[in-house]
Amino acid sequence: MDTVSPPITGKPDGERGGQVRKPVTIKTLRQMAARGEPFACLACYDAITARWLERAGVHLLLAGDSAAEIVLGLPRTIHMPLDLTVWLTAALKRGAPGTVVMADMPFLSYHTDDGEALRNAGRCMTEGLADIVKLEADASFAPIIDKMTRAGIPVCAHVGSLPQRAAIRGGYGSAGRSAKEAARIVEDAVALEQAGAAMLLLEAVPDEVTDAVLARTRVPVIGIGAGTACHGQILVLHDLLGLTDHPPRFAEPTANLGEAVRDAAHAWVQRVHAREIGGRRYEMAEDERVAFQEAVQHRKASS
Ligand code: KIV
Repeated sequence: MDTVSPPITGKPDGERGGQVRKPVTIKTLRQMAARGEPFACLACYDAITARWLERAGVHLLLAGDSAAEIVLGLPRTIHMPLDLTVWLTAALKRGAPGTVVMADMPFLSYHTDDGEALRNAGRCMTEGLADIVKLEADASFAPIIDKMTRAGIPVCAHVGSLPQRAAIRGGYGSAGRSAKEAARIVEDAVALEQAGAAMLLLEAVPDEVTDAVLARTRVPVIGIGAGTACHGQILVLHDLLGLTDHPPRFAEPTANLGEAVRDAAHAWVQRVHAREIGGRRYEMAEDERVAFQEAVQHRKASS
């Protein structure tokens, strides 16, 4: 059997506390899903953090369009520029080469026409080094998912609550809480899997919807606010670390890094104030110091 998931307890190895594991691929995630072994995913936005997340045993990293809010401070995910997605995706892959990296295709980068959608998804793969791209979709996106898949681009179809459509719904929120909408989400998932989606991502739905999607599809299903039954689980890293002021209700932080960052930065403010900046200073060799002081004195005398 292909053992792929990192040991839960195990001797840390590699540079600075990483765990040894085989590189994780989409096939690995499929195998884990088939074995009923949940895999962990996080949205994050830089290479150094990606490296630490790989060392922690995270299986998939998403260069999410949430970067528009988290990194750029913009009001909605729809502001995410495609070029930034490409750059951030490549940064994650360079930081975590043994982890599946997913590019989150931004608003309007796959809606206007199929040629443009294919070229943009292709950029995420070639320039962005993505292993898979994610599209927010309903069943009407089946043809473009089919075309991407035929072109060799693995696609994760994001169904349920779709943040890029927040303007229509009047904000972010849950989905599938009425019988009609729940049934539509399940049909979307089925149609997109049939079109070739290699994975599904299910956002902010009741457990009943998740159970129905899992019963009707065979590809790995990643959940965010979609209960515990999904094959994989994803959150925005900043919500998990306690860095965001208003995380969504389904994101329970495992750390309080916001306050830790504030306290660490405040300690720096105090050090600067006290002229005790720490670290190691640069020094001159004694003969250079004497020569330099003589040169300074000479300049003073001759001016
Ligand atoms: O952009 C994002 O962070 C997402 C979530 C599903 C994590 O799409």
